[in-house]
Amino acid sequence: MAYKILVIDDEKLIRWTLEQHLVREGYEVVTADSAEKGLQLINEEAPDLLLLDNRLPEMTGLELLEKLNVPERGIMVIMITAYGLVETAVKAMKLGAYDYISKPFNLEEITFVIRKALEAGSLRSQVKQLRGKVDAIIGETDMMLRVKDLIAKIAKSDATTVLIQGESGTGKELVAKAVHSGSLRAERPFMAINCAALPLTLLESELMGHEKGAFTDAKAAKKGLFELADGGTVFLDEIGDMDISMQAKLLRILEEKSFRRIGGVKDIKVDVRVISATNQDLSRAMNEGRFRKDLYYRLQVVPIMLPPLRDRGRDILLLARHFTDHFNRECHKSVQGISKEAEQVFLSYPWPGNVRELKNVIERAMIFEIDKEIMPEHLSPEILEQHAAPMDSSLTPVSLDCLTIPESGISIEEVENALVKKALEMAGGNQTRASQLLKMPRDAFRRRMKRFGLI
Ligand SMILES: Nc1ncnc2c1ncn2[C@@H]1O[C@H](COP(=O)(O)OP(=O)(O)OP(=O)(O)O)[C@@H](O)[C@H]1O
Ligand SMILES: [Mg+2]
Repeated sequence: MAYKILVIDDEKLIRWTLEQHLVREGYEVVTADSAEKGLQLINEEAPDLLLLDNRLPEMTGLELLEKLNVPERGIMVIMITAYGLVETAVKAMKLGAYDYISKPFNLEEITFVIRKALEAGSLRSQVKQLRGKVDAIIGETDMMLRVKDLIAKIAKSDATTVLIQGESGTGKELVAKAVHSGSLRAERPFMAINCAALPLTLLESELMGHEKGAFTDAKAAKKGLFELADGGTVFLDEIGDMDISMQAKLLRILEEKSFRRIGGVKDIKVDVRVISATNQDLSRAMNEGRFRKDLYYRLQVVPIMLPPLRDRGRDILLLARHFTDHFNRECHKSVQGISKEAEQVFLSYPWPGNVRELKNVIERAMIFEIDKEIMPEHLSPEILEQHAAPMDSSLTPVSLDCLTIPESGISIEEVENALVKKALEMAGGNQTRASQLLKMPRDAFRRRMKRFGLI
């Protein structure tokens, strides 16, 4: 699609010359003879680039820029200034213009600056799009910040295979989509398939397609997911449940980047990124012989571990607020937030269904007529009970990856300090829960907090 350029200049001859030239260069061009008309066309035509003369009747180009909020709109602006008026140029750049040209200009110069601006603009919008996707993932704890950072990095490195692991409802699909839409593959398809939901033969034909007559039901040839997603991403959900014989076939596709449809004789080459996800412990599945080692190492070139919600501390509250806003919009409600009491429940409940469960809990709570905030009485009895019950310790593996022993060594005291901080972070500042995490009486825990200057 051609880029659209809006020329705003009050001199007819300049408008005409630029239009002729830019159309010949392959751009789509619209013109305006005043700032007011220009503003209107910016809204109606959504141009990619603005060539803006500063000296206009009534409203100047700079005034137009002030009204426009250029960075927000993502439009590229090139300011045309009278010769020697550096100050105008500087002001324009401050207001978000990309570059300026002074009169008199030659057309070659204009073409060059426009091309540069449009290139920068498409880069900027890619970055913005990427940021938008990563922003859609709510989370500020160290663990989640690291995950978001990783997503941004993987998105840029085009082809690496990614394995996302995490309990059910931790956001694996959301992350897979963020990787896809942040990558250069974003314009190409994202095709997801649940490997647990289909019997082996069906899964195979879904993934690889089949030729006409390959089996009884194959009345016509069909493309598989790998072909349909060419240039894009295939998301293999629940990969841990994939049949072992299919695992061998998948490995071959990944290694050779080509395959044959069922019943086919032709090798089909494809360029897809494979992202897989599982809520199973794949290393255990490997040890038990249910998952191929070679496939495991092939899939997890970059592993992403999504922590369970109960370990994300105050992120639980961020997410709760996020979903409250979401359902406010969706159901035209105006719930103001979560009460302190409900927050305490949220922080100590173990969330076996993770983010999905939290989302459902908020949705359900908002069915009630809520005066102002979500209160404990808007939550289901199970949640209220479980939050009071002591935690099942098998549900909270304490991860020690927050700790590394430096060459210079580390004292047990420092280890304790780090663990206390970590437990507090995981418990969102809730001391009772943090002490439970370290299987320590509450007052012993508080003593340590004091010793380490945390209270
Ligand atoms: N960090 C997050 N920020 C915002 N929304 C999230 C986050 N994590 C998950 N969600 C939302 O929670 C729901 C569940 O997420 P998703 O489907 O990605 O989980 P999953 O790990 O694939 O689950 P399952 O293992 O059950 O397939 C979705 O509606 C998703 O948008
Ligand atoms: Mg999923």
